[in-house]
Amino acid sequence: MSVFDLEIHLDEQDLSRALRADAAAGLSASPKWLPPKWFYDARGSDLFEQITRLPEYYPTRTERHILAAHAADVARLTGAKTLVELGSGSSEKTRLLLDALTAHGTLGGFVALDVSPAALRDAAAKLNAEYPGLSVRGLVADFSRHLGVVPRGGDRLVAFLGGTIGNLLPAERADFLRDLRAVLDEGEYLLLGTDLVKDPAVLVPAYDDAAGVTAAFNRNVLRVLNRELHAGFDEDDFTHVALWDPVNEWIEMRLQARRDLQVPVRDLDLVVDFAAGEQMRTEVSAKFRRAGVERELAAAGFALQHWWTDPQERFALSLARATAKP
Ligand code: SAH
Ligand code: TRP
Repeated sequence: MSVFDLEIHLDEQDLSRALRADAAAGLSASPKWLPPKWFYDARGSDLFEQITRLPEYYPTRTERHILAAHAADVARLTGAKTLVELGSGSSEKTRLLLDALTAHGTLGGFVALDVSPAALRDAAAKLNAEYPGLSVRGLVADFSRHLGVVPRGGDRLVAFLGGTIGNLLPAERADFLRDLRAVLDEGEYLLLGTDLVKDPAVLVPAYDDAAGVTAAFNRNVLRVLNRELHAGFDEDDFTHVALWDPVNEWIEMRLQARRDLQVPVRDLDLVVDFAAGEQMRTEVSAKFRRAGVERELAAAGFALQHWWTDPQERFALSLARATAKP
């Protein structure tokens, strides 16, 4: 494929149809919610990259350290010929895996799958330049709906990094893992990055940074609705809220209305009322414990083989092998 060719499994029309359905459901629910995949237009993907470099946002650099320490183990243990990355974004940390698999001598291809064409295009262009011998494919697709587009065969290792699995609700997570297992063959591997339960004094600032980048990222979803659905949100009418839910063990991101609002969403023929102080959920970011990860993997047909963490046990990388199908 040429440097700028992406394989589009989710075109503008599918995206806008899905956004319309999600927004119609979420904005008329009580309490209101929006699904997180709509954060990631070009501006949102860029803001997320800024988040990964914030002093408060420990997950990215912690996961990078774990990867640096264990990428060679991953290469040796999996002997993967194809690396598939889901929710790949910039694929920045993924270079550690590409380097280790290249050094191990097995790697032939890299497949990046993301809902954001802008992020994929940037990442694919850079990787093509940096890894001239590698076949790089970029798939624009939704990992909750289109796992069937992942190319078959070739001793695959699927990487799902960044703690993105925590952005799925528990039932969505179970469906996702089951669907992923269904497109893999026995003996293929999943490398899963999960953020871990820890002191809320560390967790909350990671989602509510002093510079306000996360707040801008959260409010970006309103710009997406304005552009795609001709809605009339004013970002300044909403404040960013991040709170720790100790029962569900997740961080919840919300947007809170500063005053009573009537917001038209023209393409949905809808006027959405917000009371002053009303909060709309835009994202959860679940935090995990080893036993829970192992149990959820097992339920989907994956055996946890290695669990690697940093010395402070902030973040974990799990290497799991697809077991025989039940
Ligand atoms: N893996 C990178 C990026 C994490 S941010 C890292 O670890 O830093 C989450 C990424 O997942 C974004 O690039 C976003 O566009 C993508 N994403 C979110 N929901 C998705 C979905 N349903 N299907 C495919 N990609 C999705
Ligand atoms: N996967 C990231 C996480 O859960 C996504 C993320 C980071 C995020 N910061 C955010 C999502 C702020 C919404 C708002 O850590």
